[in-house]
Amino acid sequence: MSSVPAIKLPSIFLLLLLLFSIHFTSIHSWKKEEFRPCNEAPFCKRTRSRKPHTTTFTVSNLSALDGKLKARLHQNSESGSQDSVPIRPLLLELSVYRGGIMRLKIDEDYNLRPDSLKEKTRFQVQDVLLQDLDDMRVWIPKVERSKDPSFSTFYIKHGFEAVVKHNPFEIFVRTTAGDRVLSINSHGLFDFEQLREKKEEETWEERFRSHTDTRPNGPQSISFDVSFYGANFVYGIPQHASTSLPLQSTIGPGVDHSEPYRLFNLDVFEYLHESPFGIYGSIPFMVAHGRKRSSGFFWLNAAEMQIDVLAEGWDGQTHSEEHEKRIDTVWMSEAGIVDAFFFVGPEPKEVLRQYTSVTGTQAMPPQFAMGYHQCRWNYRDEADVYGVDAGFDDHDIPYDVLWLDIEHTDGKRYFTWDKASFPNPVEMQNNLTAKGRQMVTIVDPHIKRDESFSLHKEFTQKGYYTKDASGKDFDGWCWPGSSSYPDMLNPEIREWWEDKFSLKNYVGSTPSLYIWNDMNEPSVFNGPELTMPRDLVHYGGVEHREMHNLYGFYFQMASSNGLLKRGDGKIRPFVLTRAFFAGSQRYGAMWTGDNTADWDHLKASVPMVLTIGLTGFAFSGADIGGFFGNPGAELLVRWYQLGSFYPFFRAHAHHDSSRREPWLFGERNTALIREAIHVRYSLLPYYYTLFREASVNGSPVMRPLWYEFPSDTETFTKSESFMIGNSILVQGIYIQGQKTVSVYLPGGQSWYDLRSGVTFSGGMSHDLKVSEDNIPSFQKAGTIIPKKERFRRSSTQMVDDPYTLVIALNDTLCAEGEIYIDDGKSFEYEQGAYIHSYFLFSNGILSSTNIIPTHPSKFSFNRLIERIVLLGIPSESKRILIESARHDLDMGVGPLTLRTGSNPVAFVIKKPNVSIGDDWSLRIL
Ligand code: NOJ
Repeated sequence: MSSVPAIKLPSIFLLLLLLFSIHFTSIHSWKKEEFRPCNEAPFCKRTRSRKPHTTTFTVSNLSALDGKLKARLHQNSESGSQDSVPIRPLLLELSVYRGGIMRLKIDEDYNLRPDSLKEKTRFQVQDVLLQDLDDMRVWIPKVERSKDPSFSTFYIKHGFEAVVKHNPFEIFVRTTAGDRVLSINSHGLFDFEQLREKKEEETWEERFRSHTDTRPNGPQSISFDVSFYGANFVYGIPQHASTSLPLQSTIGPGVDHSEPYRLFNLDVFEYLHESPFGIYGSIPFMVAHGRKRSSGFFWLNAAEMQIDVLAEGWDGQTHSEEHEKRIDTVWMSEAGIVDAFFFVGPEPKEVLRQYTSVTGTQAMPPQFAMGYHQCRWNYRDEADVYGVDAGFDDHDIPYDVLWLDIEHTDGKRYFTWDKASFPNPVEMQNNLTAKGRQMVTIVDPHIKRDESFSLHKEFTQKGYYTKDASGKDFDGWCWPGSSSYPDMLNPEIREWWEDKFSLKNYVGSTPSLYIWNDMNEPSVFNGPELTMPRDLVHYGGVEHREMHNLYGFYFQMASSNGLLKRGDGKIRPFVLTRAFFAGSQRYGAMWTGDNTADWDHLKASVPMVLTIGLTGFAFSGADIGGFFGNPGAELLVRWYQLGSFYPFFRAHAHHDSSRREPWLFGERNTALIREAIHVRYSLLPYYYTLFREASVNGSPVMRPLWYEFPSDTETFTKSESFMIGNSILVQGIYIQGQKTVSVYLPGGQSWYDLRSGVTFSGGMSHDLKVSEDNIPSFQKAGTIIPKKERFRRSSTQMVDDPYTLVIALNDTLCAEGEIYIDDGKSFEYEQGAYIHSYFLFSNGILSSTNIIPTHPSKFSFNRLIERIVLLGIPSESKRILIESARHDLDMGVGPLTLRTGSNPVAFVIKKPNVSIGDDWSLRIL
């Protein structure tokens, strides 16, 4: 007989569970006092109160060794930290990587430590940097002593060099023409608390609310200032909620009591749409941008980090001239070492290429994952799943993935099924697969401490749980009640966890089941700030405080590797994560967690997704409709219209919210939502091509306007509109009942309305009437977008469908674009099994040329182009000729159709009878 776990639970436990879930799901809204502000974190408070240049350091013994520069860093004796603790010289190491990257490491010299401290090494983040990074290292043969002996210089890349200033210690990167790009410690805020013996009667304990952190290793924080020159704004360092894409100043003139930007992965219930407090994930990478250049700075450190952006004038100086533009920032971390990367740009695309050449690019997702995902906490049982699935078919709405939240399990024991509600999971998945659809189930890191749960038994026996400060398995509270957490830092445990995803071990799973990792900050309901105590101990004696922001990264990594193993390394995994760190982009997708069904959260979703993309994570989205609460029909429709452009397109809702499948809001709204989803499905060939680009060079799929128009200052603050690739600009509608909207269209070329083809001039704002049918979206003149316009049940069923090319001509009647196609699921593309074609329209000729290096491709794929849409043909063109360069082709060109609507110069060429992936040319004009 199938068992319903709740019935088996003792009633007191049930009561507690109920109290907890009421507390955490309905009453609980964001409570500031639950999270530790800077002035209650001694390391942060201390750094914020320090004056520039009060502690100074000198560089000595600088020499080239093994192609790197090594030196010692001494604290100057006349300067002192306020605790007057003697400082041992630090070790400094500088290296250079191909493509414009400099790395700076500063750590303690363990040989100089007293014996009592020899054992504890400071934590250095592993597994985030690409394994073959060292192959990219450029040998530094020697240091150039400049005429002034207090400086040494070395080369970074063509046009860029680095300068080490010996006393006081400062490093800056500049162009060989002498313009500064980036610097560290120009304001003398560098400080490094070395491990030391505890003084008598000193207490290292820290308290926050009812929690005590024993801090057995004492103070170990690090701080320094970083300046970005030529920068009007800085961006990045997710994850924070904000309606502004540029980071705001957090301290200095004109700033009233702001917290620094905090990077500390936390399960923040009902987060505010505007706050510098950290939420689920952390990427300590900042991008600076100005009219002349972009640059980037990345600190590879997984402890709690706080970052101040200093308001202009904080140092009594103003930078009114363009060439003086500079943004100063202060970085502080509770522990770890300095392992920092400087990216010289100078174009935004190069900064992203540089950053992702160090941390990796976006994993190429399986094709289905770019379609629409339907989720809810929870689809109750199999009947519910079948009902929702049928609803899509009945209403002619495509979707690709149906998701099951925690209630599908047997009492929150992951990798199990609630047998009463989901008695036939394999059959259920197979029925979805028959329509080309997939399923995702949730797997969280908290393991139910239940002696009858085999996973818990195994964990306990093997000693695989994270330990508390006294060496016992840490016992915290989460969805299943009393829970323990795998020590994900340990590679052996990760490997063992990977095997849990095999079809044999995960009973009831099929090859079409994919994974959702939630609560992996990790969330601990009764822990400090709802997470693990900082003094827990991981593999190798690493304190939790040192690796906190990496926990979720490792958890997703192990899940993704598990799916990879399940498919013998041949099938692309898909794993969605809530917590993340730099490098998480290599393991799947992320979403912005528990947002709220209101217009502000809709608006904040754009800068949030853009920021994630700017820090290398291209596959991201926000819950469509808002997780908490009930969106009205108008908000829901607007959210679909916007969300259909997010790289990750999923609707999700809290269990207390009313059902909101797309057809529940009346016929008109169903039609509008259907249309929004259709827009996404029609653009899938374009999205696929963009994901390929992200996986090759790190360019985001969803991009800030300035990423494409770097010298247009008007774009620098745009937070409500964005680009999809280089061709489409989208403006969201964020106000209920909005009638008109001002849309800025950058650049010197014109733009075509994505639906009507109507032309708008670039380089100016347009006041547009807002329609309920769609949100404003435009195709840039000079681009060609590949589409598919037949709608099926899922993306999988569209594979064989013919293509449409939409050619948006510029003033000189030219346009270009590309398409990338592979089998959508395997890794064969790594062996050259793909099509990558370049389209060019010029001098009246449209050509398609394969640009894959090993042409002919190992991927045989012949699908017709069924339609070519030409936008912007001059009205005086009397005649359109179509000839093929390939005489063996029967052109079979259908009648040229003049598009109806307000644009008299959009032509549709039906059945040009050429194939995608072939090389061909057509004379059209
Ligand atoms: C928190 C997640 O953010 C949310 O999406 C999910 O529905 C709940 N946990 C329950 O698993």
